[in-house]
Amino acid sequence: MSRRVKIAVASDHVGWALKAKVGDYLRSKGFDVEDYGPTTPESVDYPDYAEKVAVSVAAKGADFGVLVCGTGLGVAIAANKVPGIRAATCNDTISAYFARAHNDANVLALGGRLADEATARKIVDVWLSTEFEGGRHARRVEKIAHIDTRNHTERSR
Ligand code: RB5
Repeated sequence: MSRRVKIAVASDHVGWALKAKVGDYLRSKGFDVEDYGPTTPESVDYPDYAEKVAVSVAAKGADFGVLVCGTGLGVAIAANKVPGIRAATCNDTISAYFARAHNDANVLALGGRLADEATARKIVDVWLSTEFEGGRHARRVEKIAHIDTRNHTERSR
């Protein structure tokens, strides 16, 4: 029996409503969804929630992450500070397609101010049905990993 694909989700207060809708949509499609919060729409700081999802994905506790803030920018910037994370802000399906096909992105960042529920569903569908193409793109993604390694090691010396 194959394991269900696991998706870690989180948001800030601006992305809270869309995060809940996307989580429900993913569950309805049979994905195993772990919600890292917040659980209420009170104001929170997006880096705190972006880090939870990023750490889960980087540690292979989840296959993918979905983060939602106002624009999808802040959560992606924060998530990308975790080594191994390739978070991509996608508020359209073309970005979602190439983020997976060329960048092997492992965290999808959505903007609650920019994508409505119907658009978010389409973005998620494209994201989850698009495979990384590998080949020359694998070489480039490896170079991204080397940037992580070089700079984290150099700074901690
Ligand atoms: C919160 O006001 C807002 O800054 C946040 O949701 C996000 O858009 C940041 O990138």
